Amino acid sequence: MRRHYEAEGLVRSQLAGTPVEQFGRWFREATDNPAVFEPNAMVVSTADAQGRPSSRTVLLKHYDERGFVFYTNYGSRKGRELTENPHVSLLFPWYPLARQVIVTGTAARTGRDETAAYFRTRPHGSQLGAWASEQSTVISSREELDRAFTELDARYPADEQVPVPPHWGGFRVVPQSVEFWQGRSNRLHDRLRYVALPGGGWRTERLSP
Ligand SMILES: Cc1cc2nc3c(=O)[nH]c(=O)nc-3n(C[C@H](O)[C@H](O)[C@H](O)COP(=O)(O)O)c2cc1C
Repeated sequence: MRRHYEAEGLVRSQLAGTPVEQFGRWFREATDNPAVFEPNAMVVSTADAQGRPSSRTVLLKHYDERGFVFYTNYGSRKGRELTENPHVSLLFPWYPLARQVIVTGTAARTGRDETAAYFRTRPHGSQLGAWASEQSTVISSREELDRAFTELDARYPADEQVPVPPHWGGFRVVPQSVEFWQGRSNRLHDRLRYVALPGGGWRTERLSP
């Protein structure tokens, strides 16, 4: 499979009209390939107001022409950094296909209705977990976390609706550029990048590997 993609390569004339459409093609191929573990896992890189970077993995939960959506705790490190500095990079590492997709853009919080609609689809335990964890803060022990969860579990049994935590929700990353990287032989990889035009629409360009 990897060899097939490596031989086929990526040519500009066959790119989709928008990066999201092209992402959809590659995302389906990643999802269909059992060698790709968690195809919707992506590395999100943020930076604080001084430009100091940090990265972590999160799961892509939705994408369309408006952007790429993930959910997290707004008080977490990434949440705080994105509030100070909305510039963000997403990287999908699809190594078994010798592919990566790199998105740069800006992140904005999803609306509360959209967040609530997604929160309702999560398993009860994950809903409680969003309340139990003050993500990215230092805690004294594992027991502290388990205790918080047990208390919440007693307060909200499985048949009771868990309210959406105010500190939890989505970020939508509006792409400014999207690079599709396909590994090829002799290190002569294909790199095709979409760049947003100021008036709307996209230009595409090829980068040297
Ligand atoms: C495969 C995988 C998926 C993850 N998905 C999410 C996610 O969707 N949302 C999230 O907040 N954290 C997710 N995490 C945990 C983050 O990597 C990270 O530990 C957490 O969000 C705190 O990051 P921060 O302190 O940099 O803000 C995931 C981790 C892994 C390994």
